[in-house]
Amino acid sequence: MVDIFEKVQQTLAAVAAESPANAEALEQFRIRYLGSKGEVKALMEEMRNIPNERKREYGQLVNTLKQQAEEKHQSLRDILEAQSAGADAVRLDLTAPGEPLPLGSRHPVSLTLNRIVDIFTRMGFSVADGPEIEDDWHNFTAMNTPEDHPARDMHDTFYVVDAPKMLLRTHTSPVQARIMQSRKPPIRIIAPGRVYRNETISARSHAQFHQVEGLYIDRGVSFADMKQTLFHFAQEMFGAPKIRLRPSFFPFTEPSAEMDVWLGTDTEENARLTKGTGWLEILGCGMVDPQVLINCGIDPEEYSGFAFGMGIERQTLRLFNIPDIRMLMMCGFCGSSVRTADRLLTVDF
Ligand code: DAH
Repeated sequence: MVDIFEKVQQTLAAVAAESPANAEALEQFRIRYLGSKGEVKALMEEMRNIPNERKREYGQLVNTLKQQAEEKHQSLRDILEAQSAGADAVRLDLTAPGEPLPLGSRHPVSLTLNRIVDIFTRMGFSVADGPEIEDDWHNFTAMNTPEDHPARDMHDTFYVVDAPKMLLRTHTSPVQARIMQSRKPPIRIIAPGRVYRNETISARSHAQFHQVEGLYIDRGVSFADMKQTLFHFAQEMFGAPKIRLRPSFFPFTEPSAEMDVWLGTDTEENARLTKGTGWLEILGCGMVDPQVLINCGIDPEEYSGFAFGMGIERQTLRLFNIPDIRMLMMCGFCGSSVRTADRLLTVDF
C-alpha cells in the first residue's frame, strides 16, 4: 500500500523534473502522463485497490498529480507556441507589398455640392453656415412665412419635443436671416447644408436632404442680375444653353420664380428626366421681399437683393445616374453600390 502512494509521489517529482523542449517532446510528455494509457489514468484506476479509509487521501494526491501534469503541459505549450510565432515573425518579409486597402472617395452629394460651391465662389459668393436645429423665428417668421403656412404644421416639420420653438430646419433660407442680422450689405453668400422634412421616404424624396441657399444684397440689385447669375450657374453646372424662369410664389421673395434648365430631349435619359419637355426644374428664386429685409434690420429703401434655393440630391441623381435617392444614405456608399459609384465617379469634375 505504501508503494502506490510512493508511486504517485515519484510521478509528481518526475512531472516536475520534465522539460520537453519542442513540440514532439511535449507530445511525448502528454502521452506518457495524460494519455488514455498514461500514468495518471493508471494511478487513478488504482483507487479501487485502496482501502476505504485512505481513498480520500489517495484521491486528493492523484488529483494534484493530474492538475500539475495538465498545468505543465499547458504552460509548455503556450511557451512553444509563442516561440514559433516569434520564428514566423522573423521569417516575415517586411519588403513584401502590403494588403491592399480599399480606397475611399467623396460622397456623390459632396461632389455635387463642391461643384456648386466652386461655381458660385468664382462669381464672388462666399460660403456661409447656420445651425441645423433652428428656431421658429429664423426658419419661418423672419422669412415671412405666415402662421397658417402648412410647413409650420407639426406633421410636416420635426419639432424638438422639449423646446417647441426649436425645429430641424426645413430649408436653408434661415441662414439668409442670420447673415442679414450679422452683416452689413453688400452681402453675397451661398449656404449649403442639410435640411429636414417629414416626408414619406421613396426613390425620389427623403426626410433628410441638402440644399444650397443663395443671397445677394446690395444697392440697386435687380431681377436682371439674378437672371444672369443663375444662367451662368446653369451653363457651368449642366452645360445648359438656356434657362426659363416661371412665375411662382415663395413667402420670402417678391416676385418669385422657378428656374428650369434646358436639357433637351435628344437622349432617352434627358427625355425621361424632363418628362418629354426638355426642361428640368432645379431651383426657386426671387427678389428678397422688403418685409424680409425689414425683419432682418436692412432698409429696403436703400437695399435690394435676390435669393435662391436649390435641392442637391436630385442634381446628384442626375449627374451620377443614380436611380434611387435612398442609395445616397447607405453607409459609406459602400457594398454593392460601390460599383455604381466607381462607374459614375468617372464623371469629370
Ligand atoms: N426655401 C425654398 C424651399 O425650400 C427654396 C427657395 C425658394 C429659397 C426661393 C429661396 C428662394 O431663397 O428665393 O423650397
